[in-house]
Amino acid sequence: LFTEIFANEKTLIEQRLSQLITEHPSLPYADLFTAARYSLLPSAKRIRPLLLLATLQAFGLPAEIGIDPACSIEMIHTYSLIHDDLPCMDNDDYRRGQPSLHKAFSESHALLTGDFLLTYAFEVLSQAPKLSDRQKIALVQTLAEYAGSNGMIGGQVIDLLSESQTIDWPTLELMHDLKTASLITASLEFGAIIADVSSDDRAILQSMGKKIGIAFQIIDDLLDVTSSFSEMGKLAGSDEHNKKATATSILGILPSCNKIKDLCSEIEKELKLLSRPAPILSSLIKQLTHFRLLKPQHPKS
Ligand code: IPE
Ligand code: IPE
Ligand code: MG
Ligand code: MG
Ligand code: MG
Repeated sequence: LFTEIFANEKTLIEQRLSQLITEHPSLPYADLFTAARYSLLPSAKRIRPLLLLATLQAFGLPAEIGIDPACSIEMIHTYSLIHDDLPCMDNDDYRRGQPSLHKAFSESHALLTGDFLLTYAFEVLSQAPKLSDRQKIALVQTLAEYAGSNGMIGGQVIDLLSESQTIDWPTLELMHDLKTASLITASLEFGAIIADVSSDDRAILQSMGKKIGIAFQIIDDLLDVTSSFSEMGKLAGSDEHNKKATATSILGILPSCNKIKDLCSEIEKELKLLSRPAPILSSLIKQLTHFRLLKPQHPKS
């Protein structure tokens, strides 16, 4: 499903990830590179890197200039999944169609591999070719902010604190915004920084990122109760088991589907406000906000 649009770009990203982290069999810590590749390289959607490259495409820039920044975001995302799966977090034994890193290696290895990917992402970003120093500093700052306390990490803290709690929709929305929309927004903002877009376009991309991210996390919550290992590459039912506050536990399935629909129509309107047509970005967003329950289910009223 996710391979059809921008398939070449996806291959470019995966090839570059594999180049950036190679095996080092002669090093005493060779396992670190093996473990990083184990988590980074299996089949995944790569939506964040693809959103970045699709933004560049809309503003007339070639993919090449965005590849390393895109890889740095995918590294941060992968580190977040490794840590998210740890027994002290969601305690999930499968990820990307295979045993989670702490199952295949060990908890301590999973912790350190996450640390490595987090740190290395910024090294890659600081050395990204063909960008000005001003752009690289802006990218480093943007990624640090979206991945940090007021971004993804803050969202993960709300997620943990909300286990077994009844939270309201605004709190859940804030959690989704921080834990999931942060890196998606960072991806679009990366495109804005690299393509040097106007402040108007940048504001639109930012607003779209938030909505795409929230819709994407609602879908992830829905899939946890409606999907399967073969579709997701991770085990379903984890959220219920952990008593997580999710879109389905707080809102229910049908209202969650309606939220997605509302967000999608707002995103579509915003896309049209951009100063350039963005057909690939538009198709990507449609694909990643598509949920099979959207079609067959309608409100009864
Ligand atoms: C999973 O992210 C975690 C969420 C933020 C929902 P993805 O659904 O993008 O996972 P991969 O990268 O394809 O494995
Ligand atoms: C993931 O949320 C958010 C992250 C920042 C990793 P989930 O915990 O719902 O993601 P999955 O379902 O394990 O992929
Ligand atoms: Mg989680
Ligand atoms: Mg999880
Ligand atoms: Mg989930």
